[in-house]
Amino acid sequence: MARRPLVARSVPALRTIVSRYRAKRETVALVPTMGALHDGHLSLVRAARKRARRVIVSIFVNPAQFAPTEDFKTYPRSFDADLAMLAAHKVDLVWAPSVAVMYPADFSTKIAPGGPALVGLEDKFRPHFFGGVATVVSKLFLQTAPDFAIFGEKDYQQLKVVTRMARDLDLPLRVIGVPTVREKDGLAMSSRNAYLSPSERKIAPLLYRVLKDTAAAIRAGASLSATVAQGRGAIETAGFTLDYLEARHAETLLPAQFAKDGPLRLLVAAKIGKTRLIDNIRV
Ligand code: PAJ
Repeated sequence: MARRPLVARSVPALRTIVSRYRAKRETVALVPTMGALHDGHLSLVRAARKRARRVIVSIFVNPAQFAPTEDFKTYPRSFDADLAMLAAHKVDLVWAPSVAVMYPADFSTKIAPGGPALVGLEDKFRPHFFGGVATVVSKLFLQTAPDFAIFGEKDYQQLKVVTRMARDLDLPLRVIGVPTVREKDGLAMSSRNAYLSPSERKIAPLLYRVLKDTAAAIRAGASLSATVAQGRGAIETAGFTLDYLEARHAETLLPAQFAKDGPLRLLVAAKIGKTRLIDNIRV
């Protein structure tokens, strides 16, 4: 059995362990998560292992990034299974604060991200989301003081928001993006896939197929607006409620009219039944 990682549940306990690493001049990589871990998270852990001597994984379901109507209460939680997976991946330390530790009753500071956080994608449908993410991620960065912070391309807008925030605030760390890990049929792995019924699960991989077909058509020279419109139609015909399918500039996430405005990224968000799925792909 692999050695269990240390688990810190208070800021002083965390700081004691991190200062031991620092005293030995060991590099640190942080992988922020909300738990319910799957192979996508584990590929972030592997990327962290490659970069740094010490790997910290945070597990915290962050209430600040859920709207009152969203799934904070029912979000899957599986701490013991998560810990076993992290042990197998030789993670050094799990940072698992309670809500009361992260947000004491008189907590009153917020980070308000702009730039890629205000481009009319996730921010349009989840207006509270990036403020909550930026606030918790900046706390996680200050708490764990990593040299590297590892994020998935699965949440592409989040990756860009966190990268910009780290740059804007001169945070002394490098944000690293890791490619999306998929199921065999192309569905991007996500803790929320657990919500899908068997029939919804069958339809879900269509999102990735549409992304791939649309990207291929754009690369082959087809009209951007016509191709994206066709993709939107295919998603709705399959039974999804579409929030957006958009071709955006891959760095700024601003709207793009022509392929030459690139590099481009195609981003999609759609609901199947009650489950909201997001995905994206490079063009
Ligand atoms: P969570 O959804 O748990 O995701 C944690 C990290 O895993 C994110 O960087 C996400 O992009 C990455 N990830 C999820 N699915 C992936 C996949 N299939 N392939 C590759 N990476 C994947 O994102 C969050 O938590 C939160 O917003 C957080 C950053 C922890 C702040 O609360």
